[in-house]
Amino acid sequence: MNATPDLMSFVELNSVSHSFPSHDASLDPVPVVDNVTLNIAKGEFIAIIGPSGCGKSTLLNMVAGIIKPDRGSVRVKGRQVDGINPDRGVGYMFANDSLFPWRTTWENVSLGPELRGDPDRKEKAFELLRLVGLAGSEYKYRSQLSHGMRQRASLARTLAQDPEILLLDEPFGALDAQTKVLVEEEFMRIRDARGTTVLFVTHDLTEAITLADRVVVMSARPTYIKSLVTVPIERPRSLIETRFNTTAQELYLQLWEELRPEVTAQELDKAS
Ligand SMILES: Nc1ncnc2c1ncn2[C@@H]1O[C@H](COP(=O)(O)OP(=O)(O)O)[C@@H](O)[C@H]1O
Ligand SMILES: [Mg+2]
Repeated sequence: MNATPDLMSFVELNSVSHSFPSHDASLDPVPVVDNVTLNIAKGEFIAIIGPSGCGKSTLLNMVAGIIKPDRGSVRVKGRQVDGINPDRGVGYMFANDSLFPWRTTWENVSLGPELRGDPDRKEKAFELLRLVGLAGSEYKYRSQLSHGMRQRASLARTLAQDPEILLLDEPFGALDAQTKVLVEEEFMRIRDARGTTVLFVTHDLTEAITLADRVVVMSARPTYIKSLVTVPIERPRSLIETRFNTTAQELYLQLWEELRPEVTAQELDKAS
């Protein structure tokens, strides 16, 4: 088998499905991800939107190798994913920050470079913290940071690993609208310069449209790809101007029409 990835298959999900055991062991497993196929090119930015609880984080966990699909396969750079492998070049920022409480913020950010024995790790950590708007918080501990600051510190820590592929699970969900735009801008500058491939889960349709090359709309659980939409807006983009772009506004309505019945279905599922 040829292990050299072609352009369209830097990250590949092939008919991936997954179920979790039911709370009640006598019941059947609960299907969560249903036959998802997605090919992602090197350098592409994919946004994933879908109702809360549909299976988005489960999907990212399968790309990261944390969860093994029941059926189908995941390939990263042409190789089948089978467990967590630090050499794969995948950086993962979870929905819940996983900062170590006994480390200062800069020490958390420099964790990856420290493991690599990077002598410039402190400088790099300080620079990334400045870029995410956390200058002045370098020596604070997790307990001294707000939820939004923890998210930004987690993002800086993930970027410090210099990954080829970034998995970001609602990375800016806790930020206020204005801080979010500033952090998005800095983040996009870094990612454009590095050419990082990104899978980005978000609840924010505007964020999905302004940042992504393609937007994946996921159905209610068990989740499948309901639609895959290309964002036909050139780069580089001004994130603020793109919000007012007519194409972006039409796309917002289109995505919302796709998403609305899925959100309703997922809410009914929760209530039952
Ligand atoms: N480890 C687990 N064991 C059992 N059920 C789980 C587990 N992780 C997630 N689930 C369930 O799978 C569904 C999808 O979860 P998740 O992927 O976190 O959704 P999303 O990220 O889209 O909000 C939810 O119903 C959730 O309760
Ligand atoms: Mg999630």
